[in-house]
Amino acid sequence: MQQIMESHDAKVLKAQTHVWNHIFSFINSMSLKCVVELGIADIIHSHAQPISLSTLISSLPIHSSKTHFIPRLMRIMVHSGFFSQHNHTENEQEVTYALTDASLLLLKSNPMSVAPYLKAMLDPVLTNPWNQFSSWFKNGNPTPFELAHGKLLWEYAASDPRINNLFNDAMASDAQLITSVVIEKCKGVFMGSESLVDVGGGTGTMAKAIAESFPQLECIVFDLPHVVSGLQGTHNLKYVEGDMFEAIPPTDAILLKCILHDWSDEECVKILKKCKEAIWKKGKEGKVIIIDMVMDNETKDEESVETQLFFDMLMMVLVKGKERNQKEWVKLFSSAGFNNYNITPVLGSRSLIQIYP
Ligand SMILES: C[S@@+](CC[C@H](N)C(=O)[O-])C[C@H]1O[C@@H](n2cnc3c(N)ncnc32)[C@H](O)[C@@H]1O
Repeated sequence: MQQIMESHDAKVLKAQTHVWNHIFSFINSMSLKCVVELGIADIIHSHAQPISLSTLISSLPIHSSKTHFIPRLMRIMVHSGFFSQHNHTENEQEVTYALTDASLLLLKSNPMSVAPYLKAMLDPVLTNPWNQFSSWFKNGNPTPFELAHGKLLWEYAASDPRINNLFNDAMASDAQLITSVVIEKCKGVFMGSESLVDVGGGTGTMAKAIAESFPQLECIVFDLPHVVSGLQGTHNLKYVEGDMFEAIPPTDAILLKCILHDWSDEECVKILKKCKEAIWKKGKEGKVIIIDMVMDNETKDEESVETQLFFDMLMMVLVKGKERNQKEWVKLFSSAGFNNYNITPVLGSRSLIQIYP
């Protein structure tokens, strides 16, 4: 009987730990934000070797009364895999810290830095809507973001240059990371086309890299006026302002990176139909290249599953979109009149999907 009680108590205590860790998950995000704002990874990187705690502290832009808090901040970041901790080779009172694969991605000097993405996603304008989440379920507002700010995300970005820049920089940093993999592993996807329109292409990071790698390809970055107005193209890349729900410039190939997951099924079908019209106007057999998540990819670890679930919720709170499984994708394609598709899961938690009319 006592054994049964103990195992019951153990279960309750384990459950409490589970609940606490979920209540406090935001501490991981906010500690990470603090580390990025203090530039800790950049300081370790510029030291060129594992940095001692005392050297790190003396390099940080912090008040002298706060220095003794740094080991605690570093402890949780070591626990969550952002830094590795070592014994000092000469001074056994000291520890040293080194970068890990994750913190290399926080460096300002890394072209693939995730720091701009973190700054946008953890800005209060993007995190406040989470406080409206349950209220949104109970009323008719289109998104928690709209409930919090009175405008949809894209309208808000058009009206607030700070958020517009933060968001565009975040997208550019993600595009930088994905582009190198796409160009290296999926070169064939862009061969055979004479023109490409990157619909909702942001400030053009991905299209610029594609245009450089394929000089014969005429590229257009197509996005809303507040995103592309005033941007300078190159000999084979130009910026065009417009609304993808109205009309997309004629082209052989269309790129939709992280676009369809922002929209409802009905809106996606409208976008895809506009893509089809743009391909037809060109008079050649074209295709649409989609980069987005496919929720039921099989070769996935637990961490990737969590990433996909997080993004699905993010799409619910910020915009009207969702992450889709293969069946849901195929339904969208056939509703918009695309008959063939193939999915290449080469981009970590995302896939490259090609669809053909
Ligand atoms: C999630 S971002 C993706 C940006 C870029 N494709 C990338 O992955 O880096 C979505 C983009 O869609 C653009 N967008 C939103 N509504 C649009 C519309 N009606 N027509 C054209 N672009 C739009 C936004 O301005 C934004 O740049």
